[in-house]
Amino acid sequence: MHLESIATIPLSMKITTVESSKLPSIDFDNLNFGTVFTDHMFVCNFINGEWQDPEIIPYGPLTIDPSARVFHYGQAVFEGMKAFKDENNKVWLFRPDENFNRLNKSASRLAMPELPEDVFFNGLNTLLNLDKEWIEKGKGNSLYIRPFIIADEPAISASPAANYKFMIILSPARSYYSGEVRVLIAEKYSRASSGGVGSAKAAGNYAAQFYPTSLAHKEGYQQIIWTDANTHEYLEEAGTMNIFFRINDTLITAPTNDRILDGVTRKSIIQIAKDNDIDIQVRSLKVSELIDAAKNGSLKEIFGTGTAAVINPILGFKHSSFKHELPKINDSYATLLKEILNNIQYNLAEDKHEWRYEVKSM
Ligand code: COI
Repeated sequence: MHLESIATIPLSMKITTVESSKLPSIDFDNLNFGTVFTDHMFVCNFINGEWQDPEIIPYGPLTIDPSARVFHYGQAVFEGMKAFKDENNKVWLFRPDENFNRLNKSASRLAMPELPEDVFFNGLNTLLNLDKEWIEKGKGNSLYIRPFIIADEPAISASPAANYKFMIILSPARSYYSGEVRVLIAEKYSRASSGGVGSAKAAGNYAAQFYPTSLAHKEGYQQIIWTDANTHEYLEEAGTMNIFFRINDTLITAPTNDRILDGVTRKSIIQIAKDNDIDIQVRSLKVSELIDAAKNGSLKEIFGTGTAAVINPILGFKHSSFKHELPKINDSYATLLKEILNNIQYNLAEDKHEWRYEVKSM
């Protein structure tokens, strides 16, 4: 896909800008993930079987009929992306084609209409150009991008809606997890089942984790590593992150399937590991193998990967009555891989896989 040409296709778009920007009032040193939004948002409605002319308007509340299916049946899908600013004030996206394709896969799985490329890329380009002053330079700073589609047709029959709203909102971000992350390994609850919607970025997948995760919080664990729903024997993903285990010097991550999100950071880390001669195995890992490795000292690291979280080290885990703290090591793969990934994202290193996409000034 030639992103540069897609982004320059003219799109008929009405733009209404804010009278005065909120930017001067933002405290970038104290950002809580996902709580601060930029001045503008992109909206495109799907009505009578067609995507309508899109609009950019000031960020603000929506008026949606209470009977809209999104409120009753959760017909909603989303994406998570980031924009980065380099030292020369150029703005970069990382593998945005992956997010576009996954959004449409998720939409299809939830019987929602797919989005045309020009709406997605032109909308994103134009919005980022309007709000690019919100992107701070330097590693660790980014603008989190949240594209989403919701069913907003007013009718509560349990069937796919006829009308939808696609939107993009932007939120300046630093880290997703502010403290240490320890995880519980799921033994009772599950996130996804075979044939279900686990691989889609469906809103309900996240809501379904809130209750079990709140129980984990009470025990002092910030996240859950989900296991397969049938046997709870195989390690799958962490819900907000895909998960990697380092046993001796081999990195292991579960293969994607219809229960596991095909994470963009996950697939990039697999490639970066290969490029750097790190032994990487994409295979199922049993909880019992993890516990054996923890007991015999060969388990060196666990980390999660995701757009919001980037690469987040896991400091310890619990399964049944077994508790384990990861050792402190000097040659962390998580640190090395994060550094290489960030250097590509912030235009500080060669981009041999052509993952970076420049948001051209308009
Ligand atoms: C992301 O990493 O972008 C996600 O969508 C996870 C979300 C829970 C913040």
